[in-house]
Amino acid sequence: MTIKKLAEQYKDYVIDLRREFHMYPESSWEEFRTSSRIKEELDKLEIPYIPLAGTGVLATIKGKNPGKTVALRGDMDALETTETNDIPYKSKHEGKMHACGHDGHTAMLLGAAKILKDIQNELKGTVYLIFQPAEEVAGGAKKMIEESDFMDNVDSVFGIHLWSDVEVGKVSVEAGPRMASADFFSLKIKGKAGHGSMPHQTVDAVVAASAVVMDLQSIVSREISPLDSAVLTIGSFHSGTRFNIIAGEATLEGTTRCFKPEIREKLPDIIERIAKNTAASYRADASLSYTWATPATINDEECSKIAAGSVEKILGKDGVTKMEKTTGGEDFAYFLEKAPGVLAFVGIRNEEKGACYPHHHDKFNMDEDALEIGTALYVQYAVDFLNS
Ligand code: NI
Repeated sequence: MTIKKLAEQYKDYVIDLRREFHMYPESSWEEFRTSSRIKEELDKLEIPYIPLAGTGVLATIKGKNPGKTVALRGDMDALETTETNDIPYKSKHEGKMHACGHDGHTAMLLGAAKILKDIQNELKGTVYLIFQPAEEVAGGAKKMIEESDFMDNVDSVFGIHLWSDVEVGKVSVEAGPRMASADFFSLKIKGKAGHGSMPHQTVDAVVAASAVVMDLQSIVSREISPLDSAVLTIGSFHSGTRFNIIAGEATLEGTTRCFKPEIREKLPDIIERIAKNTAASYRADASLSYTWATPATINDEECSKIAAGSVEKILGKDGVTKMEKTTGGEDFAYFLEKAPGVLAFVGIRNEEKGACYPHHHDKFNMDEDALEIGTALYVQYAVDFLNS
């Protein structure tokens, strides 16, 4: 039987699992129920696994014949938001919701495990299944790699993100940058507090920090080539206690996004230079604390060609679509730093079924027909890569 046919056969299994995961969403690092359900399903299939990074699971399927090693990754965590969809499998965990589709990723990877088990005797090489926790906080991939050296044996890694901007029945597997690096920082602006009526006796942290926010906006427009792209957002500004006290301190928090490592590396120095000098011109001090969260997700040229072939086998030539890269971040990038591979965007959009809300929205949902496609694609890529 073809992989496509097997995926069709397991369609209900995958949908049922997805709905179950959807009903019991769990926050990053707390995917306890999800993790034990994954292990239960792997036990039924007699697929060996080890726990990694707390709730993470790394399963191994060895083919009958020796060969290369390919890793398939699905993430598991949900978000802190209250679902407003009216569906029979609505979230039962108050204030939590699978609003990014990771419930689908986990279910599809279990469906793929079932198919890989069926075709184990024809497999040439080894397939790792990476059930990754804590993607939403960009911590899970890194921790799995730190705790085990399994990625050292991997020749290619393949991930799927179900994607609401892409119509169901279409898949994007283009080469090159697909998602941006995502880092975050905080700036402490120190002045001198005092009476609101006597500013000359103080160093006003609100004024200094406001100037810093404005000056930081010149980084993207004046210091990055207009042919490249980058984002610098200040998302929070906290200062002061009441109307007639001049604040002595302000805290700014923000995030940066870009696609080129060389731009990513120089951003902290630029931010620090501007913050310190701007603050100084108001007699205030600025100090920067910068956190590297995740590199850019860059699909490999060769692997992208293999993946396009895999998509064609499942959906025909029309199934391969093009999609503009996004400034969202994905910690799948850490796996791509260890082995060449592809993050595929599998379309879930279907207006008629109400699957048209963006990721992280409280009405986010998917056309579940996409699950069969994603399940087949995981396996097809693994087989196509191992045979390449
Ligand atoms: Ni996501």
